[in-house]
Amino acid sequence: MTLITTLAVLLSGATLATTAWSKDAPAAGAALYATHCTACHGADRAGVPPTFPALTDVAKRLQPAQIKEKIKNGGGLMPPFSQLSEQEIDDLASYLSH
Ligand code: HEC
Repeated sequence: MTLITTLAVLLSGATLATTAWSKDAPAAGAALYATHCTACHGADRAGVPPTFPALTDVAKRLQPAQIKEKIKNGGGLMPPFSQLSEQEIDDLASYLSH
């Protein structure tokens, strides 16, 4: 392999890694979750049932649209997070679905 080919392979690898990072909604969602949600739902998403529901298997109970609805509007003891952007809410829903 020539030096040029080696460089090209290294560069394309770096580009792929960058692309994967910027599209990594679960990672962005995890950071948002840590900031806004752990107080009630726990760092491990186990919650404090029955008051604060576990979110570990929430994707089995709710559609992504319903998860986003809950984050936006709250309900019961869940406060609304109307200060979050659509993108942030998408990232959170995506994080919770993994
Ligand atoms: C102040 C405590 C509190 C915080 C902070 C909080 N939640 Fe909740 N959350 C609740 C409670 C209480 C419920 C149950 C509400 C109900 O009975 O309808 C709930 C319910 C939910 C549900 C629906 C669960 C289900 O099984 O129906 C989702 C999804 C959810 N929260 C996501 C989040 C996310 C994402 C965040 C962070 C942006 C967050 N919550 C922050 C208290 C909280």
